[in-house]
Order: sequence, then C-alpha cells, then structure tokens
Amino acid sequence: MFPATPPSRLNELSADELAIYQQLDPEQLPKHIAIIMDGNGRWAGQRRMQRFFGHQQGAESVQYVVETASRIDLPWLTLYAFSLENNLRRPQTEVSFLMRLLRTYLVGNVKRMNDNNVRIAYIGRIADLPKEVQETMQWAAEQTARNTGTTLTLALNYGSRVEIVDAVRDALTRIAAEQNGRLSLAELLAKFSEQDLSQALYTAHMPDPDLVIRTSGEMRISNFLLWQIAYSEIYVTERFWPDFRGQHLLEAIREYQCRERRFGGLGNAPKAKSAEQEQALVR
Ligand code: FPP
Repeated sequence: MFPATPPSRLNELSADELAIYQQLDPEQLPKHIAIIMDGNGRWAGQRRMQRFFGHQQGAESVQYVVETASRIDLPWLTLYAFSLENNLRRPQTEVSFLMRLLRTYLVGNVKRMNDNNVRIAYIGRIADLPKEVQETMQWAAEQTARNTGTTLTLALNYGSRVEIVDAVRDALTRIAAEQNGRLSLAELLAKFSEQDLSQALYTAHMPDPDLVIRTSGEMRISNFLLWQIAYSEIYVTERFWPDFRGQHLLEAIREYQCRERRFGGLGNAPKAKSAEQEQALVR
C-alpha cells in the first residue's frame, strides 16, 4: 500500500492569493521561509496608537501568514517573534505585554493550528522566559505535536550569536567526551567541522532557510539565524508587519523564484572556456 497523498488545500486560498500562486512554479517552492517581523511600532505610530496595538495586529498577521503557508504546504516557517535584545532593551511594560500576547495567541489559536495541520515549535533561550509563558508554550507544542503539515517555529528570546557560541561549546564537549577526553586541543580542533556546528544549533533538525523576508524596509539581519542563512535569498518589503498577509508571502515567493541561486558556483552562467580557449584569449 502506498501512503495516501493528502488532498491539496489550494482551493482554500483567497482569489488574490490564488492569482499569485498560479504564477509560481510548484516544483520550485521554498522548503523553509524565515521572517523578521518588523514595523509593529511604526504601524501603530502612523495611526496615533500605542505600540501595543501594533503588536496585537502583528499577532493577527502571524495567523494569516501561517494559514496561507499551510495551504501551500510549506514544510517550515520560522518567525522571529522576540529577540534576546528585545528582552534586554525594551521597557519592561512592553516585554510583559509581548509575553501576555504570546500566551493569548497560543491559547486562542491552537485549535486553528490543529485544523490547519500546523505543528508549533520554538527556538531560543526558552528557559529564561517567565515560567507561565514556558508552560503555555509547552502545552501548545504538545497539543500540535502530531500535526504533519507546516512546522511553525517561533524564535523567542532568540539571539544568533549566543546560539553559535553555545553550539561551539556543545559540539566540542561532545567530541571530547566521545574520545574519552584523550584529545589534545589541536586534535580536538582538527576534528571539529561545519557539520558538527550545524548539528549543535537549535535548528539541527531543519533545512536552512531558502528565503528570508524582512518587513518594514529595514536592510538588516538583526542577529537572526546568522549561520543558517549563509545562502538564503533575502527579500525586503516596505510593508509593516501588521499589514502583511498571505498574498504578500506569495509575492515574496514569486520574487524568490526569479532569483538564480548559485551557492558560490556558477549556476547558469555561460560555461567556463577550455584551457586552450583561455590561452588563445591571453595571446
Ligand atoms: C517588531 O516590531 C516586532 C517585534 C519586536 C515583536 C514581534 C511580535 C509580533 C509580531 C506579535 C506577537 C507574536 C506572536 C507570535 C504572537 P517593532 O516593535 O520593532 O516595530 P518598530 O520597529 O516599528 O518599532
């Protein structure tokens, strides 16, 4: 018996979304999209509202985008929801509001996640978040653990440099322990590889992002997945996150499909000339 292919959910896209989806090559869809959600505060400021309203609307956008991602069967969606720097540098009132909003969001949307076959996961220094937030997070992850569609990973209290430092420590400790501590420092370092580091990151189980989206027009990476996005395509839109919807996700994918990914190679550039041809040119 072959496993049954799940029915396509493209009929659940809105007319605007479907019009863009039909311009895409379904064979070349990204497997992993990571989004830096930015501009909540400015969105609110433009409306003479407090920043909190921007975050609230931003949480609505999260759900719209997750559901569109699940309808096109995107395997991995990672959202930068709260950085280590946000935690350290924003006023305590805003941090507390974001923590409450996260809990409300999870409690209010687990059913919709299940209806959409979305699994919730997290990356970041989760153990440093308030206990009640951690409990709700764990509950939401457990409630959605059996879903097999899109994995929604929320980066919370996340910082990429800290992740890399922790990963280097973990990888070296593991290698040293495997060799019963008998390696010299030089031998230990010689054994340490890119793969060891990748496998010690929070994201070890995921493919690297194919596409990074940043909203609000800022041209920065802000300490997000620095190692993992080495060869990702980057798409920046002026749109603020609270105005970002599924159709904008699809527009970003359309732009992604126009890019030529070369991973340091030559891609479809004209083939290199033979040594004889190169010699003839030099002469
Ligand atoms: C950036 O906007 C956004 C954040 C710091 C937090 C992101 C949070 C959400 C999208 C809402 C809650 C998320 C979930 C998962 C429920 P900003 O405040 O830096 O905006 P600004 O640059 O315009 O000030």
